[in-house]
Amino acid sequence: MNDSNYILTVENLCKYFSSGRGKNKLVVKAVDDISFNVRHAETFGLVGESGCGKTTTGRTIIRLYDPTSGNINFNGRDIGGEMTKELRKYITDNIAMIFQDPIDSLNPRMTVEEILGEGLKVRGITDKKEINERVIETLLKVGLTEEHATRYPHEFSGGQRQRIGIARVIIIKPKLIIADEPVSALDVSIQAQVLNLLNDLKEELGLTILFIAHDLSVVKYFSDRIGVMYSGKLVEVAKGEDLYKKPLHPYTRALLSAIPEPNPITERTRKRIEYDPVKDHDYSNEKPSMVEVEPEHFVYCSKSELEKYKKIVQETI
Ligand SMILES: Nc1ncnc2c1ncn2[C@@H]1O[C@H](COP(=O)(O)OP(=O)(O)O)[C@@H](O)[C@H]1O
Ligand SMILES: [Mg+2]
Repeated sequence: MNDSNYILTVENLCKYFSSGRGKNKLVVKAVDDISFNVRHAETFGLVGESGCGKTTTGRTIIRLYDPTSGNINFNGRDIGGEMTKELRKYITDNIAMIFQDPIDSLNPRMTVEEILGEGLKVRGITDKKEINERVIETLLKVGLTEEHATRYPHEFSGGQRQRIGIARVIIIKPKLIIADEPVSALDVSIQAQVLNLLNDLKEELGLTILFIAHDLSVVKYFSDRIGVMYSGKLVEVAKGEDLYKKPLHPYTRALLSAIPEPNPITERTRKRIEYDPVKDHDYSNEKPSMVEVEPEHFVYCSKSELEKYKKIVQETI
């Protein structure tokens, strides 16, 4: 897994939350032993239903949370260990997060120029002219204008605010962007515009993105590889194309079956598949683990499931 192509390597990562004491103690395994990696200039989509642990994964990588166990390696450096001032600065300089709800993450008392300039100042850029130039250049990149620089977040629409959220991240040129459901708080009509923008920026700037979504149709739109999460675990990781052509894990199949068909005739006959872990797997004798079924296609399965999946892969052209 220590391929130098990888900018991020996550190994056996766990993040548990505990609450209560004694008999009332409750442990939530929000992230439960997941491993994956992200290559330079790649978009890795992380998808799964609400509550499956996507945000916790993102927040643990950027070290808003301490991992319970496991390794996080970024650009050849272990960033999962004890937090120091130096490590915090290293992470801040290199990894940035785009949040679901832009209004929560933009200071209402700061102008757009101040919001965007903040990241530059933290990185030691203090020349006012340089800041102003970089702010304007970045605003244009995200489809806003020079006039927007002096305005406040509340003067913008939801879609525009998310453009500011994106601008705030790309202005600092991070090596990795974690986009946590960046469009799910927006009107459907605006979602495509913001996704198009991210896609254009990805090409133009060669961004590396960990793209989190609960909706596979959004991830499908521009992920090179996709990891499917269920209840704290990664259940399948594959190139986008392979995941659509030959989904193996029953949960992936269920997610795919939930995507509406653009064609009204096939849409009418579309069958929803329900996923029921108790019915769909028998792990009483054979314990499941993550196995590579074909190159770059991993699935969480038992030995007999693996035999079945291998057949599916062989039979799908
Ligand atoms: N700070 C926290 N304290 C306790 N439990 C949490 C916390 N954050 C998330 N959880 C729990 O961890 C699980 C995964 O949550 P989350 O990572 O937010 O999922 P997702 O982003 O996929 O919707 C959920 O059961 C959630 O309730
Ligand atoms: Mg979330």
